[in-house]
Amino acid sequence: MTRLFKEPTMRLLLLAAVAFSAAAQTAVAPAGNAQNGKRIFESYGCYQCHGHDAHGGAGARLAPNPIPFERFSRYVRRPTGEMPPYTSKVVSNQELADIYAFLVTVPAPPPVKSIPILNR
Ligand code: HEC
Repeated sequence: MTRLFKEPTMRLLLLAAVAFSAAAQTAVAPAGNAQNGKRIFESYGCYQCHGHDAHGGAGARLAPNPIPFERFSRYVRRPTGEMPPYTSKVVSNQELADIYAFLVTVPAPPPVKSIPILNR
């Protein structure tokens, strides 16, 4: 360690930086490619239970407004209900991030006012 790091203010700054990056890692989803995520969502069969738009079906509704990434990835790896587990051998961490990036882009369903038969 250099002298610089022994200085109390410097040590505080370092601690703050470490704490900040740890917090950022848990709160922010890793960067993902939404287009690839949409492709995987189809080809790995997520859509079969969750629907093409992830709005839900036999499986839970995943979008719009997906749950935080940490909970998302934990569930896919170790589901507690009827969903089959997807290990990292089947879906890599990067692919999970891609799927999540896709879920974030799924728009909300159209407003009821835009459906003519419901507005007569
Ligand atoms: C065979 C059907 C099936 C497939 C395939 C499937 N799921 Fe699921 N999933 C479910 C069901 C059913 C639930 C509701 C909880 C349960 O019973 O496990 C669920 C729940 C989830 C949840 C938790 C939602 C929440 O709000 O807690 C996530 C996240 C999820 N699925 C993601 C995925 C992803 C990503 C894939 C593809 C890699 C996938 N699922 C494939 C059936 C499926």
